[in-house]
Amino acid sequence: MQIKTFNKEELYKNAIAEIKSKLENVRGDIIPKMATIAAVLKHAMPHYFWCGFYFAEEKELVIGPYQGTSACPNIAYTGVCGTSAQKKEAIIVPDVHKFPGHIVCDVQSKSEIVIPIIENGRVIGVFDVDAKTYNAFDETDKKYLEQIIPILLED
Ligand code: SME
Repeated sequence: MQIKTFNKEELYKNAIAEIKSKLENVRGDIIPKMATIAAVLKHAMPHYFWCGFYFAEEKELVIGPYQGTSACPNIAYTGVCGTSAQKKEAIIVPDVHKFPGHIVCDVQSKSEIVIPIIENGRVIGVFDVDAKTYNAFDETDKKYLEQIIPILLED
Protein backbone atom coordinates (compact mmCIF):
# COMPACT_ATOMS: atom_id res chain seq x y z
CA MET A 1 0.00 0.00 0.00
CA GLN A 2 1.23 3.46 -0.88
CA ILE A 3 1.67 5.86 2.00
CA LYS A 4 0.63 9.35 0.95
CA THR A 5 3.27 11.64 2.35
CA PHE A 6 2.39 14.58 0.13
CA ASN A 7 -0.37 17.16 0.44
CA LYS A 8 -2.37 16.99 -2.79
CA GLU A 9 -4.32 20.20 -2.10
CA GLU A 10 -1.16 22.21 -1.63
CA LEU A 11 0.57 20.68 -4.64
CA TYR A 12 -2.43 21.37 -6.89
CA LYS A 13 -2.69 24.97 -5.64
CA ASN A 14 0.99 25.56 -6.38
CA ALA A 15 0.74 23.82 -9.77
CA ILE A 16 -2.29 25.90 -10.76
CA ALA A 17 -0.48 29.10 -9.76
CA GLU A 18 2.50 28.00 -11.89
CA ILE A 19 0.23 27.16 -14.86
CA LYS A 20 -1.54 30.55 -14.62
CA SER A 21 1.74 32.40 -14.44
CA LYS A 22 3.28 30.47 -17.34
CA LEU A 23 0.18 30.99 -19.52
CA GLU A 24 -0.20 34.67 -18.72
CA ASN A 25 0.99 35.76 -22.16
CA VAL A 26 -0.32 32.80 -24.16
CA ARG A 27 -3.40 33.67 -26.22
CA GLY A 28 -5.52 31.78 -28.70
CA ASP A 29 -3.74 28.55 -29.56
CA ILE A 30 -4.75 25.67 -27.26
CA ILE A 31 -1.68 23.46 -27.95
CA PRO A 32 0.87 25.55 -25.97
CA LYS A 33 -1.59 25.66 -23.09
CA MET A 34 -2.13 21.88 -23.15
CA ALA A 35 1.62 21.24 -23.33
CA THR A 36 2.28 23.55 -20.37
CA ILE A 37 -0.51 22.08 -18.23
CA ALA A 38 0.64 18.50 -18.89
CA ALA A 39 4.29 19.31 -18.13
CA VAL A 40 3.63 21.29 -14.96
CA LEU A 41 1.24 18.70 -13.50
CA LYS A 42 3.38 15.68 -14.39
CA HIS A 43 6.33 17.16 -12.55
CA ALA A 44 4.34 18.60 -9.64
CA MET A 45 2.22 15.56 -8.73
CA PRO A 46 4.09 12.53 -7.32
CA HIS A 47 1.23 10.11 -8.06
CA TYR A 48 1.10 10.91 -11.79
CA PHE A 49 2.61 8.28 -14.08
CA TRP A 50 1.14 9.64 -17.31
CA CYS A 51 -1.00 12.67 -18.09
CA GLY A 52 -2.21 14.27 -21.26
CA PHE A 53 -4.93 15.36 -23.61
CA TYR A 54 -7.01 13.59 -26.22
CA PHE A 55 -9.04 15.50 -28.82
CA ALA A 56 -12.60 14.31 -29.39
CA GLU A 57 -12.87 13.60 -33.10
CA GLU A 58 -16.00 12.20 -34.75
CA LYS A 59 -15.11 8.50 -34.62
CA GLU A 60 -12.25 8.30 -32.15
CA LEU A 61 -10.12 10.22 -29.66
CA VAL A 62 -6.78 11.48 -30.97
CA ILE A 63 -3.73 12.20 -28.83
CA GLY A 64 -2.70 15.75 -27.95
CA PRO A 65 0.18 17.04 -25.78
CA TYR A 66 1.17 14.63 -23.01
CA GLN A 67 3.89 13.66 -20.54
CA GLY A 68 4.95 10.11 -19.76
CA THR A 69 5.51 6.88 -21.67
CA SER A 70 4.34 6.75 -25.29
CA ALA A 71 0.56 6.58 -25.43
CA CYS A 72 -1.94 5.10 -27.89
CA PRO A 73 -2.25 7.86 -30.52
CA ASN A 74 -5.89 7.12 -31.23
CA ILE A 75 -8.42 5.33 -29.06
CA ALA A 76 -12.02 4.19 -29.41
CA TYR A 77 -14.93 5.75 -27.55
CA THR A 78 -15.26 2.49 -25.56
CA GLY A 79 -12.52 3.24 -22.99
CA VAL A 80 -12.43 5.42 -19.90
CA CYS A 81 -11.64 8.55 -21.95
CA GLY A 82 -14.43 7.86 -24.44
CA THR A 83 -16.95 7.13 -21.70
CA SER A 84 -16.06 10.39 -19.95
CA ALA A 85 -16.42 12.29 -23.24
CA GLN A 86 -19.78 10.71 -24.00
CA LYS A 87 -21.22 11.16 -20.50
CA LYS A 88 -19.73 14.68 -20.27
CA GLU A 89 -18.54 13.91 -16.75
CA ALA A 90 -15.33 13.18 -14.87
CA ILE A 91 -14.60 9.52 -14.19
CA ILE A 92 -12.41 8.21 -11.36
CA VAL A 93 -11.29 4.60 -11.89
CA PRO A 94 -9.71 3.09 -8.73
CA ASP A 95 -8.73 -0.13 -10.57
CA VAL A 96 -8.50 -0.04 -14.36
CA HIS A 97 -8.82 -3.83 -14.55
CA LYS A 98 -12.36 -3.51 -13.24
CA PHE A 99 -13.47 -0.93 -15.82
CA PRO A 100 -15.16 -2.72 -18.74
CA GLY A 101 -13.71 -1.44 -22.01
CA HIS A 102 -10.60 0.09 -20.43
CA ILE A 103 -7.95 0.62 -23.12
CA VAL A 104 -4.42 -0.38 -22.12
CA CYS A 105 -1.73 1.99 -23.41
CA ASP A 106 0.83 1.01 -20.77
CA VAL A 107 0.40 -2.07 -18.56
CA GLN A 108 1.95 -0.17 -15.66
CA SER A 109 -1.21 1.95 -15.28
CA LYS A 110 -3.39 0.79 -12.39
CA SER A 111 -5.79 3.66 -11.75
CA GLU A 112 -7.00 6.60 -13.77
CA ILE A 113 -8.97 9.85 -13.79
CA VAL A 114 -10.48 11.52 -16.84
CA ILE A 115 -11.89 15.05 -17.00
CA PRO A 116 -13.93 16.11 -20.05
CA ILE A 117 -13.17 19.43 -21.72
CA ILE A 118 -16.50 21.05 -22.51
CA GLU A 119 -16.66 24.22 -24.59
CA ASN A 120 -20.05 25.79 -25.26
CA GLY A 121 -21.76 22.53 -24.33
CA ARG A 122 -19.63 20.43 -26.70
CA VAL A 123 -16.91 18.01 -25.60
CA ILE A 124 -13.75 18.97 -27.49
CA GLY A 125 -11.47 16.54 -25.69
CA VAL A 126 -10.44 15.05 -22.35
CA PHE A 127 -7.60 15.32 -19.88
CA ASP A 128 -6.46 11.86 -18.77
CA VAL A 129 -4.18 10.95 -15.85
CA ASP A 130 -2.83 7.48 -15.04
CA ALA A 131 -1.09 6.21 -11.89
CA LYS A 132 1.03 3.15 -11.25
CA THR A 133 -0.85 2.48 -7.99
CA TYR A 134 -4.46 1.51 -7.36
CA ASN A 135 -6.83 4.14 -5.85
CA ALA A 136 -4.48 7.02 -6.65
CA PHE A 137 -7.21 9.53 -7.55
CA ASP A 138 -10.04 11.01 -5.52
CA GLU A 139 -12.37 14.01 -5.31
CA THR A 140 -9.41 16.32 -4.60
CA ASP A 141 -7.87 15.48 -7.99
CA LYS A 142 -11.26 15.98 -9.65
CA LYS A 143 -11.83 19.32 -7.91
CA TYR A 144 -8.49 20.83 -8.96
CA LEU A 145 -8.37 19.31 -12.44
CA GLU A 146 -11.81 20.77 -13.14
CA GLN A 147 -10.41 24.18 -12.15
CA ILE A 148 -7.73 23.82 -14.81
CA ILE A 149 -10.18 23.38 -17.71
CA PRO A 150 -11.39 27.04 -17.71
CA ILE A 151 -7.73 28.17 -17.75
CA LEU A 152 -7.22 26.01 -20.84
CA LEU A 153 -10.30 27.43 -22.55
CA GLU A 154 -9.64 31.10 -21.72
CA ASP A 155 -9.04 33.33 -24.74
N1 SME B 1 -6.89 4.08 -20.51
C1 SME B 1 -7.48 5.02 -21.45
C2 SME B 1 -6.64 5.11 -22.69
C3 SME B 1 -5.65 6.21 -22.68
S1 SME B 1 -4.26 5.88 -21.82
O1 SME B 1 -4.52 5.49 -20.45
C4 SME B 1 -3.10 7.02 -21.99
C5 SME B 1 -8.90 4.61 -21.78
O2 SME B 1 -9.37 3.53 -21.40
O3 SME B 1 -9.60 5.39 -22.45
